[in-house]
Amino acid sequence: MFRQLATFASAFLLASAAAAEPVGVPAVGGFPESFFLDKAPRAEAAATAEKLAKTVIAARMIIFAYAGKFVDPTLGDKGFSGEFFERQWRAAVEGDMIDATPNQKKIIEKLFWAGRQVIDNNQDRLNVKGVGWKNFLPAKWEREMGQVFTARTGIVIKQPGRTYRSPVNVPDATERKALEHYIKAGHDENKPLTSTALWSKQTVYRHMEPIRLIPACLGCHGNPKGEPDMLGFKKDGLEANDLIGLMSVTIAVSD
Ligand code: HEC
Repeated sequence: MFRQLATFASAFLLASAAAAEPVGVPAVGGFPESFFLDKAPRAEAAATAEKLAKTVIAARMIIFAYAGKFVDPTLGDKGFSGEFFERQWRAAVEGDMIDATPNQKKIIEKLFWAGRQVIDNNQDRLNVKGVGWKNFLPAKWEREMGQVFTARTGIVIKQPGRTYRSPVNVPDATERKALEHYIKAGHDENKPLTSTALWSKQTVYRHMEPIRLIPACLGCHGNPKGEPDMLGFKKDGLEANDLIGLMSVTIAVSD
């Protein structure tokens, strides 16, 4: 009798211990990068991060400008090749590159390379005929580009979201504070929030600036709040100029 009870009790304890251990939650600790290939000298870190953010935003705008063409079911080849995209992208940021240091140029070249890779990689998707929505938009390009760029450079570019759709865009603690700051400060606060941190033993420079909505974004991120958008996500209930996410750049500092 006692033995039976003991067996029952230990089975129960085991089961409840297993139930208490949560699954599918973020692992505690660690950093998104631990091997920092390209770095910026401390004196250049702010300008380098700023240039990276600006260059990514310029690319987002170009991709957005072609969104209508991408969803046109009557078109096959959209002519939006990696080469075509890269040419426009370089032209859009030419002015910002004039004062770039050799190290900044080297890093931005890798950004152009990563961005182009992603457009090349999406050609089959973009060029499908007879289908409207092909699941391609600036935020998706940026997510894929960020992964390619980080792989090559160790510089982390991401776009943490206010209510993220892709789990890649989950904000870390610093990013969450930045999101809260911009929401509280209102529409006119666009000054980047910057900081340094230690990722493992590496000093990194962090740059975050707001991504705000324009009217064209509201079909998915706007009102009525909670109603499904065309992709089945619940609309955010936001308005033009509201914060939707952050352009977040983290670059290692070389001393
Ligand atoms: C067709 C619906 C749609 C429209 C229009 C749209 N988005 Fe999104 N947005 C999405 C989806 C889907 C994702 C997730 C993309 C991914 O990573 O696959 C996303 C992701 C984002 C993210 C990253 C955070 C997150 O939610 O994962 C930002 C920032 C963002 N969008 C901003 C914008 C801005 C700014 C505009 C207008 C210029 C815009 N979006 C227009 C559907 C849309």
